Amino acid sequence: MSFPATRMRRLRGHATLRSLVAETAVTLDDLVMPLFVAQNLARREEIPGMPGQFRHSLDSLADHVKSLRDCGVKAVILFGIPTAKDETGSGAYAPDGIVQQALARLRRDVPEMYLMGDVCLCEYTSHGHCGLVKDGCVRNDATLELLAKTAVSQVEAGAHLVAPSDMADGRVGAIRAALDEAGFPETPIMSYAAKYASAYYGPFRDAAGSAPAFGDRRSYQMDPSCSRQALREVALDVEEGADIVMVKPALAYLDIIHAVRERFDLPVAAYNVSGEYSMVKLAAAHGLINEEAVVRENLLSMKRAGADIILSYHTESFARQFQRQ
Ligand code: PBG
Ligand code: ZN
Repeated sequence: MSFPATRMRRLRGHATLRSLVAETAVTLDDLVMPLFVAQNLARREEIPGMPGQFRHSLDSLADHVKSLRDCGVKAVILFGIPTAKDETGSGAYAPDGIVQQALARLRRDVPEMYLMGDVCLCEYTSHGHCGLVKDGCVRNDATLELLAKTAVSQVEAGAHLVAPSDMADGRVGAIRAALDEAGFPETPIMSYAAKYASAYYGPFRDAAGSAPAFGDRRSYQMDPSCSRQALREVALDVEEGADIVMVKPALAYLDIIHAVRERFDLPVAAYNVSGEYSMVKLAAAHGLINEEAVVRENLLSMKRAGADIILSYHTESFARQFQRQ
């Protein structure tokens, strides 16, 4: 049947019917808030390229996470900014590293919050790469042990889940084995399975001081032209024992989120990255867009594409908006 018997507008005439027939929704059950914690910081400082986001001290982090809990946020993922960096990124797996301290503190002060640790070396290496560098090349196999050590140390400190973001081949298997060996067989791994070499990470790298000192990340992160390769990446991480697989970034890769959703039965996460956040904030600051509406629309697109979980810097403002309704 077609017009005039069929009129699509009948479903749109009343707000209640619109919400009754809504096909997807974003709620706080879906969202994870990324947070930065820096060593030796007296008080929190706003990140210039990411308005509304902060580099935290341990104290300000604990306060912030309490206020996130109070407005309904259920999960956070932590990124560390150490004072000293070295060739091997030793701050990433130091038992008293900044993320380890933060995890222990939050586990004690805000026990309701679900704590995720981002596992990578780039914030801790002097060269800014996600793995060990030898003769100017980022080495794969030699990196695995350090990533596994990082994951175990984060779980020992209090992480509920670890999320490797380095894109080394074999790291999910190495981390799974190390966690099992260390007595954490129940700790889940959310792998950044299809992580692209994206220019959208710019504001994050400025915030974390983790831009590579030479070269770029194209020898280990995925080429933006590829989609079939993303499915291979996901399949390998699943074989190695990933519990949740992530696609990153989100907005320019909705097709990848959808393809992964169709092909695999695991929960799928999407990372709404720093550049995506900053573009929205800056356009809103210039009065060009309605921030709340655009954020809802962006997050909905990720859900519609098939994401179960969304990591987003908008989580806090979304939660506060939710509270007002
Ligand atoms: C570290 C890491 C990065 C992001 C998450 N984990 C940066 C990178 O790969 O250079 C990016 C997050 C964002 O842009 O919000 N490997
Ligand atoms: Zn990295």
